[in-house]
Amino acid sequence: MPELVRYHVQEEVAVVTVDNPPVNALSPGVPEGISEMVARAAADPAARAVVLIGAGTTFIAGADIRIFGTIPDREASLRRSREIHARLLALEDCPKPLVAAIHGTALGGGLEFAMACHYRVGVPAARVGQPEVLLGIIPGAGGTQRLPRLAGVPTALELCTQGNHSSASRALAEGILDQIVEGDLLAGAIAFARAKAAAGEIRKTRHLDARIADRQAGLTACAAARAGLRKIARGARAPYACVDAIEAALTLDFGGGCQREIEIFADCVLSAESRNLVRLFFAEREVAKVPGIAKDSPARQIRSAAVVGAGTMGGGIAMSYVNAGIPVILREAGQEALDRGLSVIRKNYEISASKGKISKEQVERALSLIRPTLGWEGFDQVDIVVEAVFENFELKKSVFAELGRVTRPDCILASNTSTLDIDQFAQASGRPASVVGHHFFSPANVMKLLEIVRGKHSSLETIATSLQLAKKLGKVGVVVGNCFGFVANRMLAYYLREAHLLLEEGASVSQIDQALTDFGFPVGPYAMQDIAGIDVGARIRQYLRSIGKTRAEGPQSVIPDQLYEMGRYGQKTGAGWYRYEPGNRAPVPDPLIEELAEKAAAARGLTRRPIAAEEIVSRVMTALANEGANVLAEGMALRPGDIDVIYVHGFGFPRHRGGPMAYADHLGLPAMLAKVREYRQTFGDHWSASPLLERLAAEGKGFYS
Ligand code: CAA
Ligand code: NAI
Repeated sequence: MPELVRYHVQEEVAVVTVDNPPVNALSPGVPEGISEMVARAAADPAARAVVLIGAGTTFIAGADIRIFGTIPDREASLRRSREIHARLLALEDCPKPLVAAIHGTALGGGLEFAMACHYRVGVPAARVGQPEVLLGIIPGAGGTQRLPRLAGVPTALELCTQGNHSSASRALAEGILDQIVEGDLLAGAIAFARAKAAAGEIRKTRHLDARIADRQAGLTACAAARAGLRKIARGARAPYACVDAIEAALTLDFGGGCQREIEIFADCVLSAESRNLVRLFFAEREVAKVPGIAKDSPARQIRSAAVVGAGTMGGGIAMSYVNAGIPVILREAGQEALDRGLSVIRKNYEISASKGKISKEQVERALSLIRPTLGWEGFDQVDIVVEAVFENFELKKSVFAELGRVTRPDCILASNTSTLDIDQFAQASGRPASVVGHHFFSPANVMKLLEIVRGKHSSLETIATSLQLAKKLGKVGVVVGNCFGFVANRMLAYYLREAHLLLEEGASVSQIDQALTDFGFPVGPYAMQDIAGIDVGARIRQYLRSIGKTRAEGPQSVIPDQLYEMGRYGQKTGAGWYRYEPGNRAPVPDPLIEELAEKAAAARGLTRRPIAAEEIVSRVMTALANEGANVLAEGMALRPGDIDVIYVHGFGFPRHRGGPMAYADHLGLPAMLAKVREYRQTFGDHWSASPLLERLAAEGKGFYS
């Protein structure tokens, strides 16, 4: 077994190298190894100073995240934290200058180890951060006490509550790094350490009090951070816990602050919020692991692309490619639509430029990567085509037939359909192995989710290429099966069905939206439909009616189609479920919807009643998770985590709640099943428990266990 922490002496400097691939996490043996080797260096007459460095591509990326799930109780957490704090105090008391040499990332416990060193140097591309909040915890090894002392309270608050990484240049400016090393990191760190040894200098972070001396300013910054979090935390607790711990650096001495941090950490690490976020961390990486596809499976290089249709989605998809540096041919059916599509793209880039996010030159460079056309010229050169024409079965089939003729045999043909059968397009193309669904979410240049729909004949190479491409486009690619609506929209139909029925039964549109934003969604189901376009769902329902189907079984509310017929498509027409003042996207409740709901309720013989927020949340979540269980049982999603990743990245499901399947597990599957049965009795047979939910509940299991 290779040594986790190695020791050698070079130019009178002891070099302690952490070698725990892939990211040098602080797995069992690593902290102990660092302590042992630094103690050895302290006693080694051949060493005048010490450098702590990581092997491979990075410094220490933090605690081993797998450990958090194994902490059984508060006492164990307190014990573990006290031990790590004592270890870092001992490092800081090393009698010889101790220098952290950072490349890659120094994150979480990694930065905390670095801050317990006397100095930190890093390469220009290095990044540092305290991302624990993204795992529902706070820095647990003195980070909330040393970071404000090094970089000041505002920086500590920002890094800890948002989990952002800081670049090397920013870290230098803020005092986290002492020097940037151009060229060889180890050589630079050794030179730095020798200079400190020669000058007899040692600086202990815990003794630096200048940056926290103005207590009043620090406390004001903490109050402002708490106020800011009310807008963005969406019900998560860990960001506030970070502020509480940093505040302790102002109100208590170093030892007292550490004690407070240890206690707050214990509260967080045992929370459901942390369990959900840790599960998501691994689920987000697991989605890339698809049976039959290895890391080195053959995949095609995507160097150029074409998009067919320059509407809402086609434009956003073209931008995603361009943003990844991939040139795009953008095809439309008519000049007017093409001009409109291009002007929307230009406007989007110009808005980014006006906010200072990109320069004017970058706008022009991005636009120069798009080649507009009304024909098919150049399609024989591209590596992939994404079809994003209207959601019309016959139209899409004819486009695929054409694509089969005009593209190279090895070109991947992807459809952005929201619901339709990929296999039929595959057949129409005459090249089924290269056909796949690439279901982007609106706005496609912003939303991170890409559902990769695997058709009956999609080759492994097509899927492997899609997974790699998703990463290149900055998306989270999740492979799903080919069923109506795939995973995201298939489940969404149940979420919306329940919302519409709640509306008819007596809840208002704004009350339903409020209940779900209070739950943690960035927007509720009605504001979301007004953004996406009520016409999109209406066309899908029209198609389904034409083939004698409905989206989700049970009573179908007539109100969405009534809005469509009135031309109320949402924000784009100035009215939908809400009204919109010109130039303002703030939704204004419209009494018309209440009238429509009254009529719909009367037609179904319902007496409208007051409905509590708990019932709203419970019914839509139960509907989501129950259908999620059907999706899993049919193999349309590979794992419960895939569904949760889809909901977090496609619909803004609150991360700290883990996703619909984690939510069900947290509630307990017997309790969820009891709800389905209760709703069946109260509301009708369209509530039908998923056989998988019934089985797992009977076996005392969860979706994840
Ligand atoms: N613990 C365990 N495994 C980890 C890990 C960690 N801290 N960080 C990454 N990994 C694993 C990933 O699960 C992945 O494994 P698989 O290949 O088996 O899927 C592998 O390392 C590579 O990770 P990525 O795919 O994410 O690689 P990347 O190059 O895209 O990103 C990274 C690298 C920036 C380090 C990213 O992995 C990351 O952000 N990791 C988490 C860092 C973090 O949150 N650290 C704080 C931990 S909490 C803490 O330290 C508490 C404390 O105060 C004591
Ligand atoms: P849209 O109506 O905004 O754009 C469709 C565009 O396709 C129009 O500009 C039209 O002129 C063009 N078009 C039609 N026939 C064409 C042809 N033969 N060649 C080239 N262009 C042609 O529609 P939107 O919303 O962009 O949807 C496109 C696809 O994306 C649909 O399949 C839809 O279901 C799917 N989708 C839509 C989402 C949304 O939120 N709007 C989300 C995810 C997928």
